[in-house]
Amino acid sequence: MKNKDFKGKHFITLQDWKKAEIDHALNLAGSLKKKYYKWTPHRMLRDKTLFMMFFEQSTRTRNSMEAGMTQLGGHAHDLTPDKMQLSHGESARDTAMVLSRMGHGIACRNCFYGIGNKYLNELADNSRIPIMSLQDDLYHPMQGLADLMTIQEYFGKELKDIKIAISWAYATSHAKPLSVPLSQILLFPRYGMDVTVAAPKEFPLLKSIVDTAQNNAVENGGKLNFVDDMDAGFEDADIVIPKNWGGFGNYTFDEYNANEAECMKEMKANLEKHKDWICDERRMGLAKKGVKYMHALPADRGNEVTPGVIDSEAAIIYDEAENRIHTAKAIMGLTM
Ligand code: CP
Repeated sequence: MKNKDFKGKHFITLQDWKKAEIDHALNLAGSLKKKYYKWTPHRMLRDKTLFMMFFEQSTRTRNSMEAGMTQLGGHAHDLTPDKMQLSHGESARDTAMVLSRMGHGIACRNCFYGIGNKYLNELADNSRIPIMSLQDDLYHPMQGLADLMTIQEYFGKELKDIKIAISWAYATSHAKPLSVPLSQILLFPRYGMDVTVAAPKEFPLLKSIVDTAQNNAVENGGKLNFVDDMDAGFEDADIVIPKNWGGFGNYTFDEYNANEAECMKEMKANLEKHKDWICDERRMGLAKKGVKYMHALPADRGNEVTPGVIDSEAAIIYDEAENRIHTAKAIMGLTM
């Protein structure tokens, strides 16, 4: 497999990337990381342009992409709907058709439930340059790839039977999308990992994607189990990833978008029943000795996790965040 084989390939979900392609991207990310630390020039995208459209806020994704483009020798436009004619209703088709005649890649974050992934696919259907997801309502492939790189750095490339607890956690910050845990349950079992999802019954993941993730586990010798008890999820884990997500999985896209205010009210009421779902020192004690704590960030300190855990030696969150730039550069460098 060669870098040039990836030119023009969309990056909307890792499910559309073969394992060999993901491994190639991870190898490139590792090599770009070394070059970054030696400050060896690596201008794979000299004079190229990336358009980044953010429908929501971002710290890690925005800056890993923009700084990444600069380091690769190109330039990224940081766009939001208010800066574009999207705010006056311009279609995804026209946006993609026009931008794809002016640059070399389009990246987009649109996490509106039932809307975001459709929007990205509409961009892809009408673009002659690669579309990269910066997170949508279903997938966050940039995060998934950085997570996998970080896990391999700590546990090695052979990840069979590494036990991961992906747990729902209480948060007051906002109803976070399902895309991080959904991307993780799809990806980790493909690498043979033993994944347990712990969540209250009111916060299910999306059934159609869970079914695909189960197939990934069966086909690749991984495991995927579900429990409704945070303690049980943490038991014997090598890695814990406790994070809030909204109760979107209870609703079809149409139901949610027809009754958004009602659904949000119900989600909020359900949320308040589970304030005790916090990653604290006692729960970390249920996991294996040397357990690692991961979080895509931003974390809701004091709600999702205690300061004693997130600021402890177990936390590898800053490595995880740093790997966002190395993996983003690999994806941009390969596809653009
Ligand atoms: N993890 C992540 O995507 O962070 P941002 O929302 O800050 O981009």
